[in-house]
This record gives sequence, C-alpha cells and structure tokens, in this order.
Amino acid sequence: MSDPIISVQRLSKQVADSTGTLTILHDIDFALFPRETVAIVGASGSGKSTLLAILAGLDTPTAGTVTLAGTDLFALDEDERAALRARQVGFVFQNFQLLGHLTALENVMLPLELMGRRDARAAATEMLQRVGLSERLGHYPKLLSGGEQQRVALARAFVVRPAVLLADEPTGSLDFATGAKVMELMFDLNREAGTTLVLVTHDPQIAARCERQLRIEAGRLAQALAA
Ligand SMILES: Nc1ncnc2c1ncn2[C@@H]1O[C@H](COP(=O)(O)OP(=O)(O)OP(=O)(O)O)[C@@H](O)[C@H]1O
Ligand SMILES: [Mg+2]
Repeated sequence: MSDPIISVQRLSKQVADSTGTLTILHDIDFALFPRETVAIVGASGSGKSTLLAILAGLDTPTAGTVTLAGTDLFALDEDERAALRARQVGFVFQNFQLLGHLTALENVMLPLELMGRRDARAAATEMLQRVGLSERLGHYPKLLSGGEQQRVALARAFVVRPAVLLADEPTGSLDFATGAKVMELMFDLNREAGTTLVLVTHDPQIAARCERQLRIEAGRLAQALAA
C-alpha cells in the first residue's frame, strides 16, 4: 500500500472556556491514502470542522501530530505551513470565503499567481469552464448565486490540482439539484486528478458514496467503517 497523504496521530484539541478546559478533539488517530474518498460524519458540535481545519493547518492542535505528504505540519512555522498547504491542499469552506473585491476569474487565478504560475489566466478560465461558469468570469461574488459561488470556491480549490481536497459541508447551503451537480464535479475531479477527497457531510447519501466514513462522536473517532 502507498504511503498516506495525511496521517493523524494522537491528535487532541482543547480550548479554555468559562468553566475550565473544553476538549473538542480527543486522541484521534487515522490515515488517509492517495485517491481515497472519505466522509467525516457525526452530530453537530462533535468536532468535524475543527478536525478539518487542523488537517489543513488552518487551526492548531493542543497535542498530537498531522503529517501531510511526509512532512510534520506543526513542526513548520506559519509561513512554511502556508506554503505546504498551497501546494498540497484545497479547502472548500461552507461559506465559500471568496474575496469580494475580485471577480470569479481573479478568485480562481489567485492561488496560481501565488505559486508564480504564468498560465494562471488560462488555467483558471479552463477550470471555471469545467464548473459551468464560463459566462460568469467577470462577475463579482455578490452578483453570483449561492451555487455559483460554491462552484467558484470549488474551482479555486481544484485549480492547483491539490493532492487533497478538504470540503466542509460543500453542499450544505445548496438546493438539491445544485448540490448534486457540485458532488458529481467533486467525484469527477477525484477520479481525473487522483485527488484525495475528504468531505464533512450530514447527508447520508453523500457519505455512502465515499469509500470510507470516519464518525466523530463528542470529539472521539468512533469507528472507521467501510461504505
Ligand atoms: N475556539 C473555540 N472555542 C471554544 N469552543 C469551540 C471553539 N471552536 C469550536 N468550539 C466548540 O467545539 C465543538 C466542536 O465544534 P465544530 O465546529 O468542530 O463542530 P462540528 O462537528 O463541525 O459541528 P456542525 O456539524 O454543527 O458544523 C463545538 O461544541 C464548538 O462550540
Ligand atoms: Mg462544522
């Protein structure tokens, strides 16, 4: 079997609250392999978004390690971590987080420009075409519908061909038909680019389409089920 693209060991996250210490994640261990599709499921407040943000290096654990593409993510300083993330990880936020002062095309070009890619415009245009938005390249986010913004966010995450795509409830705010299209696109890109897909979802049908499900219960990994 190939080396894991992400390996999580004894990961814990605690925060201080008014009554003392709140444990959000407790002693989590798992590995994700190239090309896998994995759903992270569990009740609201169980720690799914916190886990995803730590996998992306956007939040820090209290204890434990995350190894991304062979590198200990939290042994790096913030700049090094950001550089590793830019190369390896695409992240789709539930609320899109597009930059409002940039057009759809500019939003998708940005990660390529940060990598110094000279073909940023052509590659971003092609990816937006791929998500069905070639007629909306010059639109600012506020002029796009929710589903269109989600597709721009997906194009931005995929345009660098990351090894891993982490998506937090990517269809949570979309109508059924648009959500289904966005899901098809994610699975297509998983197959085409070999991207490891990690989806946080409350939708059992989407979870069942993934090869594995990781269930989080009150901050603990409950089981690792085959679908
Ligand atoms: N910075 C923080 N300070 C205090 N508590 C926090 C912090 N971040 C998260 N929490 C708490 O940790 C728990 C897990 O939050 P998280 O957002 O990871 O849950 P989730 O599984 O993604 O839930 P949902 O399905 O509703 O999105 C919640 O009870 C939340 O209130
Ligand atoms: Mg969440």
